Amino acid sequence: MNTRRTRIYEGKAKILYEGPEPGTLIVHYKDDTTAFNAQKMEVIDGKGVLNNRISELIFTRLNEMSIPTHFIRRMNMREQLIREVEIIPVEVVIRNVAAGSLAKRLGLEEGTALPRSIVEFYYKNDALNDPMVSEEHITAFGWANPQELDDIMALSIRINDFLCGLFLGIGIKLVDFKIEFGRLYEGEMMRVVLADEISPDSCRLWDLKTNEKLDKDRFRRDMGGVVEAYQEVARRLGIIMDSETPERSKPKLVKTD
Ligand code: TMP
Repeated sequence: MNTRRTRIYEGKAKILYEGPEPGTLIVHYKDDTTAFNAQKMEVIDGKGVLNNRISELIFTRLNEMSIPTHFIRRMNMREQLIREVEIIPVEVVIRNVAAGSLAKRLGLEEGTALPRSIVEFYYKNDALNDPMVSEEHITAFGWANPQELDDIMALSIRINDFLCGLFLGIGIKLVDFKIEFGRLYEGEMMRVVLADEISPDSCRLWDLKTNEKLDKDRFRRDMGGVVEAYQEVARRLGIIMDSETPERSKPKLVKTD
């Protein structure tokens, strides 16, 4: 790794470095795992490598279906080359099943199917604990304009439809997830594109048959088996082979004669 390259920003789970060309950045996925606005912290060996691969697969597929993203290509085990965007300070949460803060706020039982997918917005501000906001707040305070918000809504719904199908195909229920968008400037043009990551850090993923949690709730709720759950998601997505997860491989028959 070139240690002289310029560090642009360090977040809770990722580091951004200057990219090889203007308008590009390198994102490095750390093993650092946080919850509840970093009140809970742990290093989970191998998590960054898995999230880098899972997010690569999802962003590649989204690019292929003409959903614009910041993703260019994966560079190595922990790093991706991305386009530099101006992050819109709004976290978009899309929910299909009641869980987490929604279940708590509205007194719903976790696992209750929602009448339809629900999109929520949170103001991206750690000092304020990412408060929930409405479209009115977003446009009134100028975090995004009405056209950008329309684009964010339309893209979020397409991304949810695609991800629900992708995960359903591998026996996983997409309960909810969080995404972020950025402004990509190309000469005189500006486009809203998907940024950040999509991984078990930012999604709730439940096994379709058993409802076993395959995401960061295992860390948030001290359930253990965090990396094993992320590996299982990667295995089902075809990213890692059974042979790469020896603890899960079945005993092999040995010839004795
Ligand atoms: P919530 O139920 O805690 O509001 O979370 C909704 C979804 O957003 C869930 O899939 C986890 C994800 N999420 C993040 O990625 N980052 C966050 O900071 C929070 C609070 C949630």
